[in-house]
Amino acid sequence: MSQITDHLTLIRPDDWHVHFRDGPMLDAVVPHTARQFGRAVVMPNLTPPVTHMAAARAYRDRILAAVPKGVIFDPLMTCYLTDDVNGDDLAAGFAQGVFAAAKLYPANATTNSAFGVRDLRNIHGALECMQAAGMPLLIHGEVTNPEVDIYDREAVYIETVLEPMVRDFPELRIVLEHITTRQGVDFVRDRHGAAPGRIGATITAHHLMINRSDMFRGGIRPHLYCLPIAKREAHRQALRKAAISGAGPFFLGTDSAPHGIAAKQSACGCAGVFSAPLAIQAYAQVFHEEDALHRLEEFASRNGPAFYGLAENTDTITLKRCSPHKLEPIPVGNPGPGQEMILPFLGEQGVSWCLE
Ligand code: DOR
Ligand code: ZN
Repeated sequence: MSQITDHLTLIRPDDWHVHFRDGPMLDAVVPHTARQFGRAVVMPNLTPPVTHMAAARAYRDRILAAVPKGVIFDPLMTCYLTDDVNGDDLAAGFAQGVFAAAKLYPANATTNSAFGVRDLRNIHGALECMQAAGMPLLIHGEVTNPEVDIYDREAVYIETVLEPMVRDFPELRIVLEHITTRQGVDFVRDRHGAAPGRIGATITAHHLMINRSDMFRGGIRPHLYCLPIAKREAHRQALRKAAISGAGPFFLGTDSAPHGIAAKQSACGCAGVFSAPLAIQAYAQVFHEEDALHRLEEFASRNGPAFYGLAENTDTITLKRCSPHKLEPIPVGNPGPGQEMILPFLGEQGVSWCLE
C-alpha cells in the first residue's frame, strides 16, 4: 500500500457480503460492485432462494453477464441453508468450487428468509459435513423471537445460539456477518484468539457511519433501515475500533442490499442499505476520520482472502481526496413512467474520497 498525501493505492479490495438480487435489479447493481471489488461473496436470498448447485451456477452466469465489458470480477456463490439441506451435497458443492460458503438465515430474521432454518437441530448433520470439509458458515446472527427487543437480537443470538454452536462444532469455520455490537466484536476477537482463522466477521460501511439515532434524525429515514439494525453510538465506536485495528478476523462486507424507493418508503419499508456505488470510498472516509488509512488495506484487501484461504488480488485501486458530490438515484430496468429507482447510501451528501 502506498499513500502520498491525498492519494491512496491499495491491493484491489473484495466485498465479502453483498446482495445483487436478480433480473433488471441485478443488471443495475452489479456494475457498481464489479468496478471496485475483485470478488464478492453473493448472498443467496433470492425468491426462490439459491439452495443447490445448479441454481448457483446459473445465478453466477447471470451475474457475470451483468459485469461491464473489460471488467474482471469473480462472484463467489453461497448456498442458502434450509431445514432439509443435504450435508453431502453442500460439501460436494464446496469441493467442486461452486459454493464458497453456506448462509444461515434464522427463519424470518430478515428479507427473503422465510425458507431459512427454523431449528438449528435440523441442520446439525449439515454442520458436521461443513466442519469436516472446512466450508465456512456465514451467519445472520439475530434471534427471531419477537419478544426480544430488536436492538438486543444480535447480543442474545451470540449468547444463546452462537456460544453453544462453537462449543458443539469446535472446528466449524464461522463468519458472523455484518456485526453491529460490542458483543459481536468481543465474541469474534476472543474466539479468534483461541484458534486463528476459525471465526471472522464482516463489518459494513453503514454500521461504521450511522448509529440508531441517525435513523430518526429530523424524521424517519427509511433508507438507513437495515437488519441488523444500527445500534447505539458506543457500539458504532466498538465496530470502528475493530475495523481499524487491522486484526485478522475483521474484514470488509458491505451488505449492500438494494430495494426500490417505493419498497423502502412505504408503510412497512424493507430492510437494506444500498451502499455499493460509494462503498470503498465510504470505508476510506471512515479510516481517514480515524487517522488509520494505513490499516484500510488489511481490512479491505488482505484479511478476507486470508480467512477464506484465497490469494489476494494482484492489481490495485487508487483512491484520492475529492470534494464530495451528489450521486443521483440509480435507475432499474427500462426508462418510462414509474421506473424503479434505488437511492445509494451517501448519495445525497457524497463522500470525500473518490476512485481514480
Ligand atoms: O438489511 C438487510 N437487508 N439485512 C439483511 O439481512 C438482508 C438484506 C436484504 O436482502 O435486503
Ligand atoms: Zn446481507
